[in-house]
Amino acid sequence: MILVTGGTGFIGSHTSVELLREGFEVLIADNLSNSYADVIDRIEEITGKRPFFERTDLSNSEETDLLFEKYPKIEAIIHFAASKAVGESVEKPLLYYKNNLNSLMNILENMKRHSVKNLVFSSSCTVYGEPDELPVHERSPIKIANSPYGNTKQISEEIIQDVAKVSSEINFISLRYFNPIGAHPSALIGELPLGIPNNLIPYITQTGYGLREALKVFGDDYNTPDGSAIRDYIDVVDLSRAHIISIKRLLNHKNKANFEIFNLGTGTGSSVFEVIRTFEKVCGQKINFKVVGRREGDIEKVWADTRYANEELGWKAEKTLGQSLKTAWDWENYYRKNLEKK
Ligand code: UFG
Repeated sequence: MILVTGGTGFIGSHTSVELLREGFEVLIADNLSNSYADVIDRIEEITGKRPFFERTDLSNSEETDLLFEKYPKIEAIIHFAASKAVGESVEKPLLYYKNNLNSLMNILENMKRHSVKNLVFSSSCTVYGEPDELPVHERSPIKIANSPYGNTKQISEEIIQDVAKVSSEINFISLRYFNPIGAHPSALIGELPLGIPNNLIPYITQTGYGLREALKVFGDDYNTPDGSAIRDYIDVVDLSRAHIISIKRLLNHKNKANFEIFNLGTGTGSSVFEVIRTFEKVCGQKINFKVVGRREGDIEKVWADTRYANEELGWKAEKTLGQSLKTAWDWENYYRKNLEKK
């Protein structure tokens, strides 16, 4: 049994689908603070299999202890559950430190207590900050975090590193995601931000759908070919596949050290204007936008050196930016027409 924390969220739900498809038994634990329980129904609709589900707040040690006591068959964990809004973390730092760090420590304690030997951790390219060299590889320097959210990812990796040093029987993989986008091709699950989206792609799809008047492009005066900022947008299904590979690597003892780190990106950067243009072309929908000032804390450009993940995990992103944007658009339409009013 694989425990997927945050399994009703964006990346967690897609990864649960891939795990079920591969024949794994899946237990989702989520406090539903930023997601909905009916995602479980749709995971079942896609796969024909229903994951176990517990509404658990993993930052609460008693609730976490109970979860592990109730499910003694957990062999491995993929830990997604975390607060992830960069701006909110600046406003509410303690919420982020408490939630993201306590949950990790509660899980690690229970792994020791119940002899669970494998953990895949959901990390972020935010740990690299504004990189000095591109593309960024796994040994690129870790920069001072730009936000409490980013800091929780750095501290989490440090906690894992320290535990790995003294717990050679436990194996860890940290996956540093670049910018996850897209949705399941069935359009039954996808990204579902509460309120006004912070991230580019949901803002674009909501603008396309008519829910937002215009996308604000944060800055066209960066040192990039068209002046807008550059990111490495990675499809959520491609990303999910990397988690399955990581879980199998751990379960089959193929890991080379008991703490490994991999970048998960496409290796290609796209500017905000390129994303808008690609969306318009692939989805046949114009996007109103206006250029405004830079967003505080944004970096200019980042994309991944994917060689290590390609070679060691045998994993490569397959979807193009256009394909990912199309699935995100299909999901936006499906959600608004079929699910929102329920
Ligand atoms: N952008 C806009 N308008 C918007 C939203 C975003 O122009 O309304 C721009 C941003 O300025 C940036 C790009 O689109 O250049 C991507 O922005 P996102 O907010 O989608 O993503 P970020 O790169 O800022 O943040 C993401 C994740 C974080 C993670 C970070 C690591 O959301 O969790 O990558 O760099 F920490």
